[in-house]
Amino acid sequence: MTNPPQRAIGIDIGGTGMKAGIVDLETGALVSDRVRIPTPKGATPPDVLRTATELVDLLGADAEGLPIGVCFPAIVKAGVTLSAANVSDEWIGLEADTMFSQALGRDIHFVNDADAAGLAELRFGAAKAQPGLTIMTTLGTGIGSAFLFDGKLVPNSELGHLIWKGDSIEKWAAPTAREREDLSWAKWTSRLQKFYAHVEFLFSPDLIIVGGGVSKNPEKFLPGITTRAPIVVAEHQNNAGIIGAASLALG
Ligand code: BGC
Repeated sequence: MTNPPQRAIGIDIGGTGMKAGIVDLETGALVSDRVRIPTPKGATPPDVLRTATELVDLLGADAEGLPIGVCFPAIVKAGVTLSAANVSDEWIGLEADTMFSQALGRDIHFVNDADAAGLAELRFGAAKAQPGLTIMTTLGTGIGSAFLFDGKLVPNSELGHLIWKGDSIEKWAAPTAREREDLSWAKWTSRLQKFYAHVEFLFSPDLIIVGGGVSKNPEKFLPGITTRAPIVVAEHQNNAGIIGAASLALG
């Protein structure tokens, strides 16, 4: 009898970049280089699949035969992608698990990107052993969210699509809105404050975790955010998606 694999590949598909790494499933540590390729323009399923294959190739011989977990910026239920906010509409209703498994020749587990990041924090980071409700938020191309309740993930929460001024709040409060509209950090922080205040009013979490690319520079905005619950930076920052996806690779 062979032992179950202790390592898996995590692939994090974002609206801007696709990232991958090999993860030690005992510790949650990245044990390879973190490889990155820009997300192909339009992010259609065949282009994204081709790029995912390239990422696995870039990981080299160590990646051979390892199970793969993929996280993706959409609602994912039973391996089917059900929405497409910052990617091609062709993903809506696609059996992504099956398509990727066939092309990559191994079992693939698809999960929402923020849920993967939340799982990484739950298993190996800031949400470990936290009682009650933790809300993980990922601030990137969009705003993702993961609800973690008493050690369990409640999947597909989609707080970036709360309606605000007639549209999804992520259009107004994500880091991409700051870039697009050339907002000062202070101006953007005041938008983010409104997002967190609204979320806190609706759900009264016990802990809020901030992840996503911008969590690398928390000093630029976090001191300007006031919440009743403690608000902390994700321990795995921008690698949380890779780690969480890999941790689900075994099903
Ligand atoms: C998507 C979510 C995703 C988030 C962060 C949103 O636009 O609807 O599924 O988690 O972006 O990528």
